Amino acid sequence: MSACAIQVNPLSDSGFFAEVVGADLRDPGDDAQFDKIKAAHLAHGVIVIRDQTMTPVQQIAFSKRFGPLAIHVLEDQLLAGHPEILLVSNKTKDGKYVGLPDAGRYWHTDQSYEPKPALGSFLFAKEIPADGSGDTLFCDMAAAYEALSNEMKQRLNGLQGMHIYNHSHKAFHLSDAQRDRLPGSQHPIIRTHPETGRKALYLGGKILKYVIDMDEADSAALLDTLYAHCMSDAFVYRHKWTQGDVVFWDNRCTMHFAQPYDDANYTRHMHRTTVQGDVPV
Ligand code: OGA
Ligand code: MN
Repeated sequence: MSACAIQVNPLSDSGFFAEVVGADLRDPGDDAQFDKIKAAHLAHGVIVIRDQTMTPVQQIAFSKRFGPLAIHVLEDQLLAGHPEILLVSNKTKDGKYVGLPDAGRYWHTDQSYEPKPALGSFLFAKEIPADGSGDTLFCDMAAAYEALSNEMKQRLNGLQGMHIYNHSHKAFHLSDAQRDRLPGSQHPIIRTHPETGRKALYLGGKILKYVIDMDEADSAALLDTLYAHCMSDAFVYRHKWTQGDVVFWDNRCTMHFAQPYDDANYTRHMHRTTVQGDVPV
């Protein structure tokens, strides 16, 4: 398929979240296709690339064109033989989950607890619930930043947040070595996108514990105000999955939130690759 056959269709009025049709990610060496997808990703914040059938090796190869891949700390939830792929799945084997059955059930941006959080994440839907449940919400944090009052922008200027991984999980137990790898990281509350130059709010949901050097109650109140501002319909897009979708989001200027589904009756099975990003500034 030649790259000129690729179409990019924005799916919201603001241009946040676009659909890419006519791409074939099995061919990571197609430079024209790569350029188009990269441009769409930067322009729209989140893209869904439709109708993909790639293997794990092909997904890894395509993802790597954006930068080095991060290996998730939950090593038991990685695809055997391909640790670059995190399984987001409620499938079980020998009575144990093969992957993360409930990844991201709250607003967050991937790996914000790391010094170099994820640039972007590719989530490839291999199986989705037949009742159509299990949507993912995305929030445009650049538009949310731009809509703040000048007074609020000034107040936030220079503030840093403390991001710490939640060291507990209902389905898994983290080892001491895994905990030691995750002491947490400080990042600016407003970050500037290294490629577009656009400013965005950089919040972490439950991972962002507090604003540094701020009284606990003031920090909590400020964060509540910011979340209430961001999570309005103006900035949030709801993605309904179709099998074969690859959603590629930019963690530097978006947040996302996985909606629950009927996991007793349906399988939801996805392969995630994660591109490592820069230190946020
Ligand atoms: C993730 C994540 C959302 C979903 O994989 O990082 O948050 O809907 N997934 O599964
Ligand atoms: Mn996530």
